[in-house]
Amino acid sequence: MHEELDTVVVEFDEAEGVGRLTLNRPDSLNAMNMRMREDIETGLGMLAERDEEGDGVAVRVVVIEGTGEKAFCAGADITGFSGVSPAAFDAHGMRDSVIEFPAPVVAKIDGYCLGGGLELALACDIRIASESSRLGFPEVDLGLLPGAGGVQYVSRLAGPAVAKELAMTGEHMGGERAAEESIVNHVHGDEEFDEEVEAFVGTLAAKPPLAIRAIKDSGNVSVESGLREGRKYDRRVFSTLLETDDHEEGARAFAEDDYDPEFRGK
Ligand code: COA
Repeated sequence: MHEELDTVVVEFDEAEGVGRLTLNRPDSLNAMNMRMREDIETGLGMLAERDEEGDGVAVRVVVIEGTGEKAFCAGADITGFSGVSPAAFDAHGMRDSVIEFPAPVVAKIDGYCLGGGLELALACDIRIASESSRLGFPEVDLGLLPGAGGVQYVSRLAGPAVAKELAMTGEHMGGERAAEESIVNHVHGDEEFDEEVEAFVGTLAAKPPLAIRAIKDSGNVSVESGLREGRKYDRRVFSTLLETDDHEEGARAFAEDDYDPEFRGK
C-alpha cells in the first residue's frame, strides 16, 4: 500500500507487517498543522483496517518519521497561529490515536523534533534518535507551554526537573543526552541510523502480536493508573494470552529449538 494524503504518506509492507507514516511537509520542516494531525489519524485508521481484512494480525509495527534529513517535525505550524481558536491546536485526539493503535508505534527521529513533534514522538511506544537530532520545547518563547502533555510525559521519563528545564529554557537537547535521560530508547550514529532502526523494527515485527499488544496496553495502564489496577490488568490479560495459538507456537518452538517461530496473532 502507498497512499499520499495531503501531508502524510502512508505505506504498508505486507510481507514485513510494517506500516509507515511519513510526515511530508519538507518546506516547513514537517511542521504540524491541523491537516497533518487529521492525516495522522486517517493514516493510522487505514493501517488498522488492514488487520480487519486478514487472518490474524497484519500490522505488526508502525514507524513514524519525517521526510528529508533535516527534521522529524519542527513543531506546530507557526504560520497558522494568529486568530485561530484553541480547539485548532488540540493534538490530544491525534496523540490518542497513536497511543491506542493496536500495535507498537516507533518514532524514528532524525533532525529537529520540537514542540508538537516531540509530543507526537512521546505518544509513540518507542523512540529512536540519530546522534544529530535536536529535541526541545520552543513553546516558551511564543509565550506558551507544550499543549499536548509534553511536560507531563517527559516528567515521567526523565523526571520533572529535566522536563521543566527543557520547557522553560526552550533549548534543544541532542540525541545522546535524550537517550541518557530516557526520553528516547536508543541513539545511533547518523551513518548507521537507518539500518539500526530497520533492524529493530524487524525484530519487533516478528514477535507474537497479541502479546506485544498486551504489553503496549500494560505500559499505557501503568502511566494512567495505580499499581493495583495495573497488576489486575496484567493478571487478566495473561490468562487470555495462555489461550492463544501464538503461545502454543512459542512453547512448541522453544521445545523443538526452532529459532524461527511463526506467530500469526491468533
Ligand atoms: N512552522 C512553520 N514553518 C516552519 C516551522 C514551523 N514550526 N519551523 C520551520 N519552518 C519553516 C521556516 O519558516 C522556513 O521556511 P522558509 O524556507 O519559507 O523561510 C523553513 O521551515 C526552514 O526553516 P529555517 O528556520 O530556515 O531552518 P533553520 O535550520 O534555520 O532552523 C529551526 C530550524 C527548527 C531551529 C527553526 O526553523 C525554528 O526555530 N522553527 C520553529 C520551531 C518552533 O518554534 N516550533 C513551534 C513550537 S509551538
